[in-house]
Amino acid sequence: MTLGPATPAPAPAESPAVPLKRHVYIETMGCQMNVYDSDRMFDALTRHGYVQTENVELADLVLLNTCSIRDKVEHKMMSMLGSLRKLKAHNPDLVLGITGCVAQQEGERLLKRVPGLDLVLGPDQIGRLPELVAAIRAEQHRTSAIEFVHRRNYVFPEALPPQDGRVAAMVTVMKGCNKVCSFCIVPFTRGREVSKPSADVVAEVEMLVRHGVREVMLLGQNVNSYGKDRAGELDFAGLLRAVDAIDGLHRIRFMTSHPMDCTDALIDAFGDLKKLCPFFHLPIQSGSESVLTGMRRAHGVTDYLEHIDRLRARVPGIALSTDIIVGFPGETEEDFTRTIELLERVRYASIYSFIYSPRPGTRAADLTDDVPDEIKKERLARVQALQDRITADTLASFQGQVTEVLFEGPARVNQAAPNTRLGGVRLEGPPQMSGRNPQNLKVNVPTTDAAAFAEWPGRLGRVEIERVKAHSLLGKLIGWV
Ligand code: 5AD
Ligand code: SF4
Repeated sequence: MTLGPATPAPAPAESPAVPLKRHVYIETMGCQMNVYDSDRMFDALTRHGYVQTENVELADLVLLNTCSIRDKVEHKMMSMLGSLRKLKAHNPDLVLGITGCVAQQEGERLLKRVPGLDLVLGPDQIGRLPELVAAIRAEQHRTSAIEFVHRRNYVFPEALPPQDGRVAAMVTVMKGCNKVCSFCIVPFTRGREVSKPSADVVAEVEMLVRHGVREVMLLGQNVNSYGKDRAGELDFAGLLRAVDAIDGLHRIRFMTSHPMDCTDALIDAFGDLKKLCPFFHLPIQSGSESVLTGMRRAHGVTDYLEHIDRLRARVPGIALSTDIIVGFPGETEEDFTRTIELLERVRYASIYSFIYSPRPGTRAADLTDDVPDEIKKERLARVQALQDRITADTLASFQGQVTEVLFEGPARVNQAAPNTRLGGVRLEGPPQMSGRNPQNLKVNVPTTDAAAFAEWPGRLGRVEIERVKAHSLLGKLIGWV
């Protein structure tokens, strides 16, 4: 199906394309980029009179926003589609769509494979979502729109002010990836790198700050190559400096980086910029040189460790995290031992670890997937057990320390019913306010002050840590920053 380029100007909010409020339910499966995209889909639909519902049975439009980085999401998506199709029997007006990377990868094939599916929409086509759904309703046809928009014509979907009082928000600064990691499907599903103009990034952050946001996470598949695709544009360190200068913003984080582009300018930014949090996610994938070569990561373990050492020399106490893949084709026990050694050497605050999953069309998919499933699972369990110990040590190092917390809202356990029976469990103690410290650790503060829940979100408190839990810290507020 041939459809024109994205992204037409959205219709103004006061002239909705549908006469009555319609309800949309979006299930987000996958990475932060997908969470951001789901928000932009909500924004586009809001302009056309839609409201969000948490109840899929009330929805006139159901979208599964998918990720194809590993095969798990595809399995989950297929089983969800099975039950969603049944909703159509009760609501013939229901439009069912798949968006995101699985949509991009499978395209029209999905329409053939999945009876009852109406829409397949790739990430570049988000701006056309309301128009396509309206056409599906009017013309009763099924549509796939997965064309990449050439980077010269690409327009990032515009973000509306958040309605939920969030304190921390994400801002996409670029899309796509020009790297060629042999295991990775992202360059196929998200296309080539396109940077959002720095003036637009700054304007988006300023808009968020006007609406109460105090922390931003700058997002991209490889933010360190920010600006390279635009003549005269700032580099990533320059962008960080521009965002750091925004009044009212307390904190900046970013994700994700490729070790190849970990420049001195970036390391200096960590040292210089007050708002840039001392937390760096720098994926290595494996501690074995030969596995890294097979992965076509274009860097080795030695140069990676040099970056880490320079970073730690410049920013003592910086918290690090990484991604690890186990069971890449050809990974021997010795290769795997190198990964274990690397984790012991770097002592990350946290890691994301995955079993290798061959992805269609990638170079690694041509290699024999020769590590038996049992061994892959066992290696994953060993990596995770080691990391659990290191993470516990990291958390324990905060015992008795004072740490700075940006409060976001009530801790999860309090949200439904503070101090009441919740699913048969009696919650102990007073309700808790929750936030994160600069190193991205969750910190909860019990409080009996009823006003805290309205007044603390968005403020930076000084918290003395009294208890270390498995995944978070507990403490008392001793003052404001
Ligand atoms: N199999 C397993 N993990 C993968 N990742 C990317 N592709 C694959 C794959 N085919 C992991 C990498 C990457 C993270 C986002 O997902 O660790 O850094
Ligand atoms: Fe995938 Fe590599 Fe690009 Fe990361 S840098 S998105 S792993 S191709």
